[in-house]
Amino acid sequence: MTSLRTNSSWIEPYFIRDICIDPPLVLAPMEGVTNKTFRRLIRSIGGQGLTYTEFVASKALKDRGKKALAMAEFDSDERPIAIQIYGNDPQIMAQAAEVVEDLGASIIDINMGCPSKKVCANSGGSALMKDPLHAVAIVRAVRAAISVPLTVKMRSGFDHTQRNAPELSYMCQEEGAEGITIHWRTREDRYGGQRAIDKITETKSKLSIPVIANGDIIDAESAIQMYKETGCDGIMIGRGAIRNPWVFQEIKTLLSGRQYTPPNPQERRIILERFIERYREDFRYEKHSIGKIKQIAKYFYSGLPNGEDLRRSILRSKTVDEIESHIQDFFGSHT
Ligand SMILES: Cc1cc2nc3c(=O)[nH]c(=O)nc-3n(C[C@H](O)[C@H](O)[C@H](O)COP(=O)(O)O)c2cc1C
Repeated sequence: MTSLRTNSSWIEPYFIRDICIDPPLVLAPMEGVTNKTFRRLIRSIGGQGLTYTEFVASKALKDRGKKALAMAEFDSDERPIAIQIYGNDPQIMAQAAEVVEDLGASIIDINMGCPSKKVCANSGGSALMKDPLHAVAIVRAVRAAISVPLTVKMRSGFDHTQRNAPELSYMCQEEGAEGITIHWRTREDRYGGQRAIDKITETKSKLSIPVIANGDIIDAESAIQMYKETGCDGIMIGRGAIRNPWVFQEIKTLLSGRQYTPPNPQERRIILERFIERYREDFRYEKHSIGKIKQIAKYFYSGLPNGEDLRRSILRSKTVDEIESHIQDFFGSHT
């Protein structure tokens, strides 16, 4: 059992227009991870106030491509849900946003943070941070096309010579964005770099809309540190939620000043088995589902004695049945 001395205002909800994000803990968009099945897993444990789809290409959405529409799918009780779109053409982004609004998104989010070569080569994702006027032209076009709230997710800058998140965020706000998420890294940092959250703090001091802080939050202590140092309105968690899907519950409980009991091995087993079963149902072709299950389930071992053995056996498995039997054997010896 863990407890922490906290300031209860850290866990106060924030609002994106009239949408209450309560608790102010957000599941980050993650390509290949935060599909409907993974988000169901997180929601079944709870503690998050908002979930994001993985990013969806605006061009494919505008053309109502089958794969893009599947990526934007969400359960009818998944509320609020933010659907994230990416691209570089303001008109195509606006048309994609209309499609997403029709699908029933609570919030539409524009990606200005993706570091991938493929996305940046087409001047989308974090490459937009290098061209603020073009970036805000996208915000303007999308804003004019939809009536639901619009938010933007970016990095602190493209590289260390251009850490312009506060200025660009302000411009986005003036064009009608209603929330900004900032991952403290630059595009150049990718997933490394030295922790520097000064641009989140500066953005928060400049803006009147909510600012959500992101990057390396993995537990209540790192969440509190981020709140204290930046004054942010909410926090977003990505990789920490893959490694530990209970992270939102843990933070919510501890920041509310209550004691937290982490899940025992049997609770972990039940969740993991349910997750795999859903994957099997949602991804019809075994080859596809096994790759996805391996990508995500390999993290679930963390913190368990001999968990590394489970990770290795999951990665070596050739069928979903094999994965399930390794999980049964593993947890059978941890009762
Ligand atoms: C596998 C993976 C896929 C990601 N895909 C997206 C994405 O589709 N859209 C986006 O804005 N950020 C994406 N990100 C970045 C995360 O949303 C987040 O900003 C980043 O991982 C830092 O947060 P963390 O330290 O809590 O993981 C991705 C990150 C990972 C690890």
